[in-house]
Amino acid sequence: MEWISDATGVRRVVSRARARQLTIGLVPTMGALHAGHAALLSALRPQVDVLVLSVFVNPTQFGPGEDFDTYPRDLAADAAWAEAARVDVVFHPDASVMYPVPPQTFVEVQGLDRRLEGAVRPTHFRGVATVVSKLLNLWTPDAVAFGQKDAQQVVLVRRLLQEMLWPTRLVVVPTVREPDGLAQSSRNAYLSPAERAAAPVLHRALSDLEQAVRGGARDARRLSAELARAIQGEPLAQLDYAVVVDADTLEPVPIMAGRVLVAVAARFGATRLLDNCCLNISGADVQAVMP
Ligand code: PAJ
Repeated sequence: MEWISDATGVRRVVSRARARQLTIGLVPTMGALHAGHAALLSALRPQVDVLVLSVFVNPTQFGPGEDFDTYPRDLAADAAWAEAARVDVVFHPDASVMYPVPPQTFVEVQGLDRRLEGAVRPTHFRGVATVVSKLLNLWTPDAVAFGQKDAQQVVLVRRLLQEMLWPTRLVVVPTVREPDGLAQSSRNAYLSPAERAAAPVLHRALSDLEQAVRGGARDARRLSAELARAIQGEPLAQLDYAVVVDADTLEPVPIMAGRVLVAVAARFGATRLLDNCCLNISGADVQAVMP
């Protein structure tokens, strides 16, 4: 496994791969790897020749007062995950490599970046779109993998690839969960034991909604109100949103039809957790799909 930390190293690996007609797959992460990240690596491993893991805690996607300084960092553990996943190259740049001068150039996916998470974190997706663009420019990967857990990020990156004319294939990987249903997240480490015990309410409430839809419920407003009530029934959960939206535009929908994203965000103490389910509904047929 090779470690690269600057643009010159990237260009060396990329031109070597291209000269041998090898394909490149990229899994962008902020490190503190867990089974969710490992699922992205395993999904891409058989699809590409050169598998690249990037580990970079991207400052521009954190707002003032957010957890940039305290975001968990554990490069030794990340290296072990990468070895186990048969990663070929770990890209671990300093902030000065990704942002050589104080940034004046940003990439925005307008509209999508203000919905859901963007309403609470107005500059978050500008930071994500900017760093993902830089990674795509550097690595020119044939495929990139993103997790369903951050469904809005998936929707935004798909739009970014399309609009910026990047031919990179987007691979979306289902959310990996703890045995009790809680979505794996680097931020789960912040939860107190009581908050950790309360957190699976998000997945439970989403599963109940999915069952109701399978049972024929189609009124999206009623379903999202029930979803909100179920989460608010947990005293340690502070609900930010529980919404039913179109899976491409992220605009609220009145009825459950077509590709629909059901997304929730709630705070448990100081920790914000996200979860979602994505359904494709056609008449009586209901299928769980990737955003
Ligand atoms: P990070 O939170 O480290 O997540 C990296 C990738 O892992 C994302 O695509 C995320 O959706 C995926 N992931 C996280 N938890 C998962 C789970 N339980 N199951 C499946 N996939 C999961 O997302 C980011 O970093 C950053 O915004 C980044 C894209 C790297 C840009 O800085």
